[in-house]
Amino acid sequence: MHDFTYQKGILCCGDVALTKIAEEIGTPFYCYSLATIKRHIDAFEDPLKGVDHQTCFSMKANSNLALLRYMAKQGLGVDVVSGGELYKALKAGIPGNKIVYSGVGKTMQEIDSAINAGIMMFNVESEEELDVINARGSVLGKKVPISIRVNPDVDPMTHPYISTGMKKNKFGIDIETAIKQYLKASKMRNIDVVGIDCHIGSQLTDVKPFIDAIERIKLLIATLKTHDIHFKYLDLGGGLGITYLDEEPPHPKDYLHAIVEKVKELGLKLIFEPGRVIVGNAGILVTKVLYRKETRHKTFVIVDAGMNDLIRPSLYNAYHGIWPVEDQGEALEIVDIVGPICESGDFLAKDREVAKVTQGKLIAVMSAGAYGFTMSSNYNSRTKPAEVIVDQSQYAIVTKRQSYDDLSSLESVPEFI
Ligand code: LLP
Repeated sequence: MHDFTYQKGILCCGDVALTKIAEEIGTPFYCYSLATIKRHIDAFEDPLKGVDHQTCFSMKANSNLALLRYMAKQGLGVDVVSGGELYKALKAGIPGNKIVYSGVGKTMQEIDSAINAGIMMFNVESEEELDVINARGSVLGKKVPISIRVNPDVDPMTHPYISTGMKKNKFGIDIETAIKQYLKASKMRNIDVVGIDCHIGSQLTDVKPFIDAIERIKLLIATLKTHDIHFKYLDLGGGLGITYLDEEPPHPKDYLHAIVEKVKELGLKLIFEPGRVIVGNAGILVTKVLYRKETRHKTFVIVDAGMNDLIRPSLYNAYHGIWPVEDQGEALEIVDIVGPICESGDFLAKDREVAKVTQGKLIAVMSAGAYGFTMSSNYNSRTKPAEVIVDQSQYAIVTKRQSYDDLSSLESVPEFI
């Protein structure tokens, strides 16, 4: 559900016409609806009223500073996976004790920064990482809170690139090994075992894989108890899918009820790391038609946003709705919507039936609030797009479009050239 609607034939976010924003800042740009984000946060938090929990927004989905500040104000924490994310989270005002740190390749410097920030816990993904965290805790004179990320080996039935909880994936520690690691961790001087963690994948459209994973984690928790290993947090990761086209993922309340029902007897504080479900349908990418090109085989609509701005179609063959910003009742036609980048994989939609758009008109690429801007790049030396947040009738540019100077600001030419 979102707040992108046509008013007098013009697509608006809240009460702001996208044409107006485009006139002011040019294209392409990402536009986020604060009202939708708020509604999605409430949809997640309301069913958890009375349940001991902390929601940690997965900021890899969208790490805009203004948006993170809003999350902080709503009481959310964050799930981070890099020193850069940690830095931005702290800058946005997320308290250290609401930050969980996941990821298979945490560097020593990143670990130190997170220890110094007093994070809630590291989700440890390997034995060697555990050793390093213990060693850094010793150097910094701290007992470091950790959970072990368990790989439960369940198939999340999603795109292979975004499934993470199968034994062939690089993530987490398998159940057998996790027992050994818990035993080891519980004896380490500078480690405080505070939880258990599991994240099986993204864009899941069924609760069953989540429940299967929980069943396995519960057995593991029972085994650990027999070894006198107890903790307070159960981190269930993120992964709940959204509707891009015709997917029918469970409503957050159904997903949460099903989970809470399964785990409430454990008496643990629940940690959730939703990303996409909070911001995915709260954002769009607005782009302008540069040219139409009709070949004998196809019609290409060439727009000013490419795979560097939104890589999901190229990388996962992902579907994003394409809406004309001005609804003029044009006839439908089947086209490829492509970007300016020199790759055949540079497309936003393929063989798509859309209302005819002509040169200079604007197009909205829907459901682009998650993994849109955060995955953007400077490929083809293209500047990254701007980001705008709308709150009903007001809006603000929260990220300026990059300038050409930005493209080379870190580069230099040595004397021997
Ligand atoms: N927690 C962990 C440890 C994760 O790795 C992820 C996502 C999340 C939480 C949040 O998952 P979500 O609720 O957003 O599904 N770039 C891909 C998605 C990659 C997801 C990576 N991990 C895409 O555009 O579909």
